[in-house]
Amino acid sequence: MMQELVPALVNWGVPQADVRFEAFGPATVQLPMPNTGLSSVPGVGRPEVHFRRSGRTLTWEGRDESLLEFGERHGVALEAGCRSGCCGACESRLISGQVSYVTQPDHNILPGHCLPCVARPGSAVTVEA
Ligand code: FES
Repeated sequence: MMQELVPALVNWGVPQADVRFEAFGPATVQLPMPNTGLSSVPGVGRPEVHFRRSGRTLTWEGRDESLLEFGERHGVALEAGCRSGCCGACESRLISGQVSYVTQPDHNILPGHCLPCVARPGSAVTVEA
């Protein structure tokens, strides 16, 4: 039900910041991609994501919902819990660059850190993971 209802609310014009939901178990609700200012033109606006501890530098293709999903798809080990910005288990140091959030995370993020489970790169980023 939540998989259908949450995106429908956003598509009907309800601001994403006003859409609140709880996910019990792995987060499965997918929100529409916000306008990040990144181009969908191939090769343009596809920032590099460097996972420092893993030594992996990858190109963000825009097809993943979050840095967590992106890293996992490429075999980067990242801690995770709620996968919805609530628990803080995925909190990682953001060494450089900027991220954007689909919705405002409930967890208070330490300065210089990010929540990969709900973050997307807003520029080339280096994350401690
Ligand atoms: S996994 Fe819970 S805040 Fe990211």
